[in-house]
Amino acid sequence: DYWETRFQETDGLFDWYATYQELAGVFEEFCPAPAEPEVLMVGCGNSALSSEMHAAGYRRIANIDVSAAAVEKMAAHFRDLGLSWQVMDATDMAFAEGSFDLAVDKGTLDAMMHGGAADQVEALSTEVWRTLRPGGVFVLVSHSPARLAALDRGVAARYGQGARWEALELRRCPLSAQATLINVLRSKLNGRPLAEAFKDAALLREAADEARQSRKQMALLEAFRQFRARKARQAAAEG
Ligand SMILES: C[S@@+](CC[C@H](N)C(=O)[O-])C[C@H]1O[C@@H](n2cnc3c(N)ncnc32)[C@H](O)[C@@H]1O
Repeated sequence: DYWETRFQETDGLFDWYATYQELAGVFEEFCPAPAEPEVLMVGCGNSALSSEMHAAGYRRIANIDVSAAAVEKMAAHFRDLGLSWQVMDATDMAFAEGSFDLAVDKGTLDAMMHGGAADQVEALSTEVWRTLRPGGVFVLVSHSPARLAALDRGVAARYGQGARWEALELRRCPLSAQATLINVLRSKLNGRPLAEAFKDAALLREAADEARQSRKQMALLEAFRQFRARKARQAAAEG
């Protein structure tokens, strides 16, 4: 299928959306590393995120993906880190109930949505719910507008109408430098293949400038958001 072929043909690392750098604040706030959480990485692909989280202190990470090629390559690439890498379908996991404190999905739910498989998203939702301990945290990095409804449909169908995810916070995650550049290039290429950009030095330069500007803007917005969040926390603490 698409993912297996992609990972057979690709070597090295590639991160969809964001790297640990952009996501560190979310993890530190909702599930800090010093507590030694058990982490589930749903659809790891060839992302560097697990290794970056490991470097930040998250030592116990179970990585799963349906693509055997991705899992084999990642296990070899990061053999020294002591993380686990398994070929496993996120819609039908082999883990026991309550195995994890933190589950992370960056782009996997979106890939299912993109493939028109809303029923798979619902199954993923019930499996993440089942394998998280009560009170566990699910960090979902997604641009699908239908994500929350699909997640809730899944758990309500399995666990009863009262079951729904508690949304702790909806945060606009800054894109990584690479993802920003790809987005800008796609908008400039107007549907033409991305590879064409690499034949046009002027277009590449223009896109790189735009991507840099956009990242600066995002950083400013993020600093503002953090400032407001800090103020809100202070106000709440002061009663
Ligand atoms: C958009 S990529 C994201 C990869 C990685 N999380 C990242 O951020 O770069 C989607 C990933 O989901 C995996 N995937 C798709 N369906 C899956 C399923 N049912 N169970 C586990 N992984 C799945 C694909 O093989 C692919 O690695």
